[in-house]
Amino acid sequence: MKTTIDQVSKYVGEEVTIGAWLSNKRSSGKIAFLQLRDGSGFIQGVVVKAEVSEETFQTAKNLTQESSLYVTGTVVEDTRSPFGYELQVKSVELIHESVDFPITPKEHGTEFLMDHRHLWLRSKKQHAIMKIRNEIIRATYNFFNESGYVKIDPPILTGSAAEGTTELFHTKYFDEEAFLSQSGQLYMEAAAMAFGKVFSFGPTFRAEKSKTRRHLIEFWMIEPEMAFMDHEDSLQVQEQYVSYLVQSVLDNCKLELTTLERDISKLDKIKAPFPRITYDEAIDLLKEKGFTDVEWGEDFGAPHETAIAESFEKPVFITHYPAEIKAFYMKPDPNRPEVVLCADLIAPEGYGEMIGGSQRIDDLELMEQRYKEHNLTGDAYQWYLELRKYGSVPHSGFGLGLERTVAWISGVEHVRETIPFPRLLNRLYP
Ligand code: 4AD
Ligand code: MG
Repeated sequence: MKTTIDQVSKYVGEEVTIGAWLSNKRSSGKIAFLQLRDGSGFIQGVVVKAEVSEETFQTAKNLTQESSLYVTGTVVEDTRSPFGYELQVKSVELIHESVDFPITPKEHGTEFLMDHRHLWLRSKKQHAIMKIRNEIIRATYNFFNESGYVKIDPPILTGSAAEGTTELFHTKYFDEEAFLSQSGQLYMEAAAMAFGKVFSFGPTFRAEKSKTRRHLIEFWMIEPEMAFMDHEDSLQVQEQYVSYLVQSVLDNCKLELTTLERDISKLDKIKAPFPRITYDEAIDLLKEKGFTDVEWGEDFGAPHETAIAESFEKPVFITHYPAEIKAFYMKPDPNRPEVVLCADLIAPEGYGEMIGGSQRIDDLELMEQRYKEHNLTGDAYQWYLELRKYGSVPHSGFGLGLERTVAWISGVEHVRETIPFPRLLNRLYP
């Protein structure tokens, strides 16, 4: 029976054949232990000299790292393996011999590993991270589909900047100038007026000259947008969504979390509701923690966010930032127009801002005033103004960064390991 490693529990006591790669090997004169992987999982194959043909034993003994093979053997339960099963090998058929695989079980430097990302992806740790990423993607679709949202795909080539014009990748669009999308939000607002509750999930591009553990040049964002929902309604969607993501990973990625040695007790606590503090309270908190020079009106940096997060076990919303440091479309607080109805969700354990969101300006006149202040002229933005002309309604939305979320839930230090082929300040290869 031909099968895959993730299916072997169905064949205990039976003989199966698996197509696999050799990730590692130990052998003596009498026995060989083959660490096998096939993409679906990892399993140990045991080859006992006395129980197989001489040819099979010699093939097994001489296998090189990352050679591909068909292995036939009997599935047995094995309580010592984290996976729970082992293969008692009967025969081995070499498909292709791999020579001098560059990533050996010894330690390698990060730059070396990143240069070999196309091969590094095969490692157990990278496999676990990508499986968790996949689970978060699956859970995202589930959560929004089950809550009545329609998936809408905003364009990637655009003429309108959502988050300010400094970080755009410019490109030629025949005779016009275009740029790669840094957020689909403006289009999602149009979609919310057509479908009520919508979400997008796509790549976004930011020419940010930041070289930190939280920044990618190309990253994936989930952007829900909801008509008839105010700031508070949106916060509730966010905390439920994030709790759902964590629970889905806890339920479906136990092996991966073990591989990554993730402290599960920290994730177990991530249940809605999440704490909320205002920007003003955050300033006070930072002063108490020794950041004596923070001033009202300044944006927070990574050290500030980390310090704030340390006071909470769950992600924390920082709400009501000063209007001047936030995007042009955010709705001013009617009681206090110098701050806006927005929130950043800061992840625990130093992972930084995971979500940025706000209630949007729905008043045409105020939006026109913001256009003037931000020099948003030309046709590129006229359509966005029109959304405020024909049946404008209160509406809110947010953007969750996939890679920062994967990094936090997996407990991986740097976002570069949470996307298959990261685009970084100095890296467009492989
Ligand atoms: O806070 P941001 O810039 O918000 C927006 O783009 C809004 N238009 C979203 C909306 O309301 N529809 O980005 C949202 C999230 C951040 O909280 C962060 O998780 C992630 O996107 N992000 C990045 N992730 C990796 N690398 C970068 N350079 C990122 N910039 C933002
Ligand atoms: Mg932000």
